[in-house]
Amino acid sequence: PKIAVFASGTGSNYNAIMHAIECKELHAEVALLVSDQPTAKVLEKAEKYETETFVFQPKDYPNKASFESAILQALQHAQVEWLVLAGYMRLVGKTLLEHYEGKIINIHPSLLPAFPGLDAIGQAFQAGVKVSGVTIHFVDEGMDTGSIIAQHPVLIEEGMSRDDLQTAIQKVEHSLYPKTIQQLIN
Ligand code: GRF
Repeated sequence: PKIAVFASGTGSNYNAIMHAIECKELHAEVALLVSDQPTAKVLEKAEKYETETFVFQPKDYPNKASFESAILQALQHAQVEWLVLAGYMRLVGKTLLEHYEGKIINIHPSLLPAFPGLDAIGQAFQAGVKVSGVTIHFVDEGMDTGSIIAQHPVLIEEGMSRDDLQTAIQKVEHSLYPKTIQQLIN
């Protein structure tokens, strides 16, 4: 199946997905990388893997419906079946939700419903919880509210810094996301 990855930032999860495809652990094709940030690091990674990209700036469109229509056209042209959000820093709107109902997933660096929204790792660290983790969930109109597909805990041990926690969470993300995508789409 053809998937599109949506990313606004570094793209380490995009990288992990591409790696899993190369290693034949994930049987899918990333037919499109969608980004709302023309300077995002993920675009350099997409170039290396020769993934087709759709890059846009929301400010060039009158509203969300109009940039999502442009995205939709690119997705349909590439015959994409699944939308995989990996650090896409926007809420998905009606246009994409209606066309890809039940086919949009996201990864979030906490055990939802704890710590939704921005900087979930910092939030968990500040709160002093002893367990956080990673959640993969279906996307709905809310912020990190869709139904949960998979979760994996990460222990926050004595003396761990915020950066240590981030490293531990990312390590889990990079194995859990490809694995879960594989289970879901095939
Ligand atoms: C990840 O921590 C993911 O959980 C969150 O955004 C981050 C993206 O990181 N939604 P990267 O761009 O894949 O490195």
